Amino acid sequence: MDNVLIIGAGAAGSVVAQKCAMDRDTFKHIHLASRRIESCEKVAKLCQTPIEISQVDADNVEEVVALINKVKPDLLINMALPYQDLPIMDACLEAGCNYMDTANYEPRDVAKFEYSWQWAYQDRFKDAGLTAILGCGFDPGVTNIYCAYAQQEGLFDEIEFIDIVDCNAGDHGKTFATNFNPEINLREVTQDGKYWKDGEWIEIPALSIKTMIDYPEVGPKASYLIYHEEEESLVKHIKGLKQIRFWMTFGEAYIKHLEVFKSIGLIGLEPIKHKGMDIIPMEFLKDLLPPPSSLAENYTGKTSIGVILRGTKDGQPVSKMIYNVSDHAKTNDEVSAQAVSYTTGVPPVSGAAMFFRGEWSGHGVFNVEQFPAKPFLEDVAQRGLPWHVIDVDGGDQEDLFAVET
Ligand SMILES: NC(=O)c1ccc[n+]([C@@H]2O[C@H](COP(=O)([O-])OP(=O)(O)OC[C@H]3O[C@@H](n4cnc5c(N)ncnc54)[C@H](OP(=O)(O)O)[C@@H]3O)[C@@H](O)[C@H]2O)c1
Repeated sequence: MDNVLIIGAGAAGSVVAQKCAMDRDTFKHIHLASRRIESCEKVAKLCQTPIEISQVDADNVEEVVALINKVKPDLLINMALPYQDLPIMDACLEAGCNYMDTANYEPRDVAKFEYSWQWAYQDRFKDAGLTAILGCGFDPGVTNIYCAYAQQEGLFDEIEFIDIVDCNAGDHGKTFATNFNPEINLREVTQDGKYWKDGEWIEIPALSIKTMIDYPEVGPKASYLIYHEEEESLVKHIKGLKQIRFWMTFGEAYIKHLEVFKSIGLIGLEPIKHKGMDIIPMEFLKDLLPPPSSLAENYTGKTSIGVILRGTKDGQPVSKMIYNVSDHAKTNDEVSAQAVSYTTGVPPVSGAAMFFRGEWSGHGVFNVEQFPAKPFLEDVAQRGLPWHVIDVDGGDQEDLFAVET
């Protein structure tokens, strides 16, 4: 196995293609396809070794089937948008190809994401003898694997509380911009929050719970409880879990912009009439905002993303944090990408390498925490995302541990 087809030549897809092109021992054949051929041409120029490119509309199953039949990849990595997950999975089934992505399916007309739509493909992938690997970015992705590592390597006997903590302490110098696809990002952060406790999902109004979290190499930052998809799969796969929450940092200016967009209807998904034409406010807003791939130049600061785990070991309470810190300027020097695209784009390359080497295997639909964690973390560290494990004393995360949920 050495032939990979990447669909989606955006900010994160560019990183996937470039990193694959740096490792021709593993990826002998690399093909990148996207909605616009210009996007592929731009990425191909950045790659250290030659890659093949094509135009494809991934909403169209037959186009993707034809592309798979032409390229004959061992694995298709979907780096397009969550809307394309199901058509691409359908195409993989029709053409007999293994599948990987970094974000779960979302219907276009409702800002809602959950795994049910993709988990429903379990029997079809299994019966076809194919593998689908879901959520192999950073979060979801590496954060799931940090939890799996703590469980598989015996850091805990039982992990009872998980806080996934995501901080971007970078500065791109723009008044307002999102670090990944604006439409997907705004849909994610403006929907109601949700966390899981004692077997139940608890919903809260959007951005209504806030605390200070002390992030390695960054320091204390205001962080908001939002819902994130890896909570849904970790609840199934981490034994003994009592609570899981997800926190993300947002600056004051970001929150202010969100409030204004929301109050004047700019994040709406229902079409409105403009000069006789139907336009969807959220899609219009997306076109006004800078694309994430344009932010890398002069971006300063770091991302600090990880998991804070509390549980027991040998009858004693234990708290640990597992995390990665990435520097926007360094990732830009390496692959002309800011750190959010980098932390999203490097993990699928390691996941693909795990799959090609047979370290991750099985027929059906899998979340990444179901596979061996350690070889993945060793691989992804070599490709640019080292991980660190530290002990956490109660006082280190006083505010976070005091939040009543
Ligand atoms: N797990 C994580 O940690 C994580 C973090 C951030 C983002 N993500 C996910 O990563 C994915 C990419 O994000 P991004 O920041 O790279 O966004 P982006 O820069 O907007 O890139 C998305 C790309 O998808 C392509 N595309 C859209 N519709 C398509 C279609 N119908 N057919 C073929 N290609 C199509 C676009 O291609 P053209 O340029 O050719 O038009 C665009 O370049 C998203 O699914 C996002 O949710 C995951």
